[in-house]
Amino acid sequence: MAERIPHDDWAQWYDAIYEATYGDAYRWLTDETLRAVLEKACPGDAILDIGAATGRLSVPLAAAGYRVHAVDRSPSMLRQLLARATESRVGQRITVQCVNASELDGAPTFDLALCVFTVLLYLPDRAALAGTLAAIASRLRVGGRLLLDVPRRELFVGYRAETDQVERLVQITPDPSDSDGRRFSYRDDAFLKSPFLVRVSEHFVATWWPEHEVLEEATAAGLELESDVSPRFTRAASAHWWLRRHR
Ligand SMILES: C[S@@+](CC[C@H](N)C(=O)[O-])C[C@H]1O[C@@H](n2cnc3c(N)ncnc32)[C@H](O)[C@@H]1O
Repeated sequence: MAERIPHDDWAQWYDAIYEATYGDAYRWLTDETLRAVLEKACPGDAILDIGAATGRLSVPLAAAGYRVHAVDRSPSMLRQLLARATESRVGQRITVQCVNASELDGAPTFDLALCVFTVLLYLPDRAALAGTLAAIASRLRVGGRLLLDVPRRELFVGYRAETDQVERLVQITPDPSDSDGRRFSYRDDAFLKSPFLVRVSEHFVATWWPEHEVLEEATAAGLELESDVSPRFTRAASAHWWLRRHR
């Protein structure tokens, strides 16, 4: 049986559920991420958005005038992104590609890349981490930059949210068979109360990557740490780095 792609069968509710769960903090994170990108980007830059999902960042970046290539392995997420791009009248500046990020190939045509909001936790093993960072680096021109977020161990604890719009229980528990303490079972049960009544349940494996391992693989891929901008993302439980392709 084909492996289920996390979020793929509830992509049409993804935005509503995340916005209802995180509210202001989510809007703040979006604005702060866009600010960080816009500070580095130059007019006319081509941007690669890895794990772009429904276009939370791709669409406003296209609206700001950049050419954006949005990559995700979930076809349903990308359908939502395209609908959002059309609605925002920026469809002509966005291309999409449904592929596993580690299989991205092509010329180094991008000035800037993003891989944020916990994309790394979906990578199952060290080979996938290495392959994903190498593939991203290979699509960046030398001197191009990657904004990467690295979820901290403290993120892997689960939470409960209850608002007028949503009831959500996320349970994240260590996989007892994993002696390294990296692998977690991620179980999400959400009941969206508005604008529609929708119940969503899913389960997948999430992996915690220690920062030094991410940095080792980034270095092997030809990316160097340019700046650690985590202090500006204090409300996120992830480190945020600018990495630069140096070779
Ligand atoms: C939590 S969402 C993050 C969305 C987006 N980056 C943002 O900032 O809102 C994670 C996304 O990464 C995608 N993803 C996870 N692993 C991936 C992989 N190996 N290749 C491509 N996309 C992946 C998922 O399908 C999902 O849409």
